[in-house]
Amino acid sequence: MPDGLKPHGSNVIVRPARAVRGVVRIPGDKSISHRYAMLAAIAGDTSRFHNFSEARDCFSTLHCLCELGCDWGRAEDGTIEVHGVGPRLRTPTEPLDCGNSGSTMRMLSGILAGQPFSSELRGDESLSRRPMARIMTPLSEMGAKISSREGGRPPLKILGGPLKPIHYRPEVASAQVKSCVLFAGLFAAGETVVEEPMRTRDHGEIALRAFGAEVERAGNASRIVGGQRLRAIEAHVPGDLSSAAFFLCAAALFPGSQITLPGILMNPTRARLLDILVQMGLKISVAHLEEHHGELVGTIEARGAEWKGAVIAGADTAALIDEIPVLAAVAPYTDGGLEVRDAKELRVKESDRIAAVAANLRKMGAEVEERPDGMRIPGGQHLHGAELDSFGDHRIAMAFAVAALRAEGETTICDADAAGVSYPAFFEELRTVSSC
Ligand code: S3P
Repeated sequence: MPDGLKPHGSNVIVRPARAVRGVVRIPGDKSISHRYAMLAAIAGDTSRFHNFSEARDCFSTLHCLCELGCDWGRAEDGTIEVHGVGPRLRTPTEPLDCGNSGSTMRMLSGILAGQPFSSELRGDESLSRRPMARIMTPLSEMGAKISSREGGRPPLKILGGPLKPIHYRPEVASAQVKSCVLFAGLFAAGETVVEEPMRTRDHGEIALRAFGAEVERAGNASRIVGGQRLRAIEAHVPGDLSSAAFFLCAAALFPGSQITLPGILMNPTRARLLDILVQMGLKISVAHLEEHHGELVGTIEARGAEWKGAVIAGADTAALIDEIPVLAAVAPYTDGGLEVRDAKELRVKESDRIAAVAANLRKMGAEVEERPDGMRIPGGQHLHGAELDSFGDHRIAMAFAVAALRAEGETTICDADAAGVSYPAFFEELRTVSSC
């Protein structure tokens, strides 16, 4: 392997680059892949998904579905086929292993709440620390019996059955919670409403419609009537914009960079990232806009130019929640720095992402102010290479590989294999486009 990024066990060494250039084909969106797989399982007949996510998390979902009686397979051309069994799944004989995937645990719980059997959902060490009360509360109100470890932490035990519809106003803005309750709403007798405190990604609503269900959206409320039958679909999953974010931020680091990302998800509830990057100085154009099963897709062309600072707060924080680690990791190289507010949720992701970002930036010699619900990172800083921890968190591993491209000297990302949770080929792709 040439200079740049060298794997060493699960450690990856990243050397400084001078520019990022080329075309990257980003794997299918993780959020959409989870939802498609789950809805395909409870639809009749076989669904086929092209460009299904390669994320380990999405395979956790498929393995759980298999345990619930729904077979799936990969065709020769890579298409994932899910053989739906209809609304009634098979009683699992073992606990369902959700791995590292909060999406699997939270959204699948919505479907399990409507099943007339008991099931147990488990996860790895990181997932076992994550809050589940946010789905336990609405599902219990709907009539499912759910228990957890102390403090609403996994494992979860769910005894499902016939559900009552509810009008639910979640305290946290969470697309996983919204999808969970809407999926449970399919099994409720009447209309279930989720009224969110601010708009979150709407892939749950769009996927339900793609599978033939009627879902209404008015203001911040989404409504679904129970008892609707889903029908199988054949769909192409758009490239994951949250994975594309790493390459866009890498391009932003060097004025001579130019990167093309075909077939990327342009859903407005996710695309706030592009506005912020443009505001920060990245030159972006989007071409070939198309719609696939209700999701907008386009080709992104980006060129590095200036690199200014930004403030991310309020609704922007919710809209950019998965991209904040990489924006923060490259913030020291901006002119004005980055301030992130209203981001308490970052503390309960796959790792405490505020603490993880601050720890790694400090190891690289950066100044960071860590706050309970955010951080302030001054701009105009020079970073040096260091030995960094992924904290077992895919987005931290990838964010700091990007930051390392402009640091002085070599950086080691320890436990870099964590990246596979969302993007197994990430380091290889980054190596291909970064020139030393
Ligand atoms: C996701 C929603 C977000 C996001 C996660 C995926 C989804 O989580 O951080 O990576 O697919 O709905 P929350 O719903 O907890 O905000």
